[in-house]
Amino acid sequence: MADLDDIRDGKEYGIGVSQKTEGYFLKGSGNLDWGMKDRLSRIFNPTTGKTVMLAFDHGFLMGPTSGVERIDLSIVPLIEHADCLMCTRGVLRSLIPTTSRKPVCLRADAGTTILTEMNDNVVLDPVDAVRLNASAIAVMVAIGDPNMEAKTVANLYNAVDDGLEFGLPVMGVTAVGKDMARDARYFGMAARVCAENGANIVKTYYTEGFEKVVACCPVPIVIAGGKKLPELEALELAYNAIQSGASGVDMGRNVFQSESPAAMIRAVSAVVHQGMTAKDAFQLFNDEKGPSTVRVI
Ligand code: 5RP
Repeated sequence: MADLDDIRDGKEYGIGVSQKTEGYFLKGSGNLDWGMKDRLSRIFNPTTGKTVMLAFDHGFLMGPTSGVERIDLSIVPLIEHADCLMCTRGVLRSLIPTTSRKPVCLRADAGTTILTEMNDNVVLDPVDAVRLNASAIAVMVAIGDPNMEAKTVANLYNAVDDGLEFGLPVMGVTAVGKDMARDARYFGMAARVCAENGANIVKTYYTEGFEKVVACCPVPIVIAGGKKLPELEALELAYNAIQSGASGVDMGRNVFQSESPAAMIRAVSAVVHQGMTAKDAFQLFNDEKGPSTVRVI
């Protein structure tokens, strides 16, 4: 029991000074509960409002694709440069150091691979996401896919129900349907459907007219990098997305398949957080990557 013999009356009441009521920096997130906002503030830097998420969940669909064969060797050294890690629970438990102190956006749906019908997924138990101290969960949504649209939208809204129960933000990840045009109309619709179903973050692809995709999506958007591009083009993609209003990137292959992944993620980060131009960021990449090594066979 606390000491009772020196209980002092309070006197600093700040009478006449209004209590500070902080607004919230992230689009569409002002009405969320404290735990949700706290987790979102770990993913998005409250100073810049942006994030560089490092995606290396590709193995759950593709197996050991180039760059993620040995996550201990290729990804772990990049962790310090990322704002958030996006991966599966298997990789998180087996390979990611528990001392990393980085927020995790947990890939929370599974069920198919590139060998079968894509996106025929179910959502994992949110209790495991809580156990893993995830800061968000990510669920794929296949808008326009006649076989998988209803199932994946249901996955999303069920994940949102779970997320609300546990204070876990949900990221809706828009899959690109085989027969869908990759344009602002499609991505604008897919992003909006995710947000309407309660996603707190939307991950989609950059396209021309992206400012319209961002404008009509009431929650923050991050872009996927997509297939590997030459570094300057990947930096231009990130720059254009940020200038169009994206709140960050969730990049994988354009980082870990780069000739210098650490230099690349640092260059991407400069584009995202400092608004550096792609040209300047490419210079930064070249300065940081050091001389190229020629393999003599
Ligand atoms: C797949 C994903 C990937 O994490 C995403 O595509 C990001 O990786 P990349 O930049 O390599 O496209 O969400 O469902």
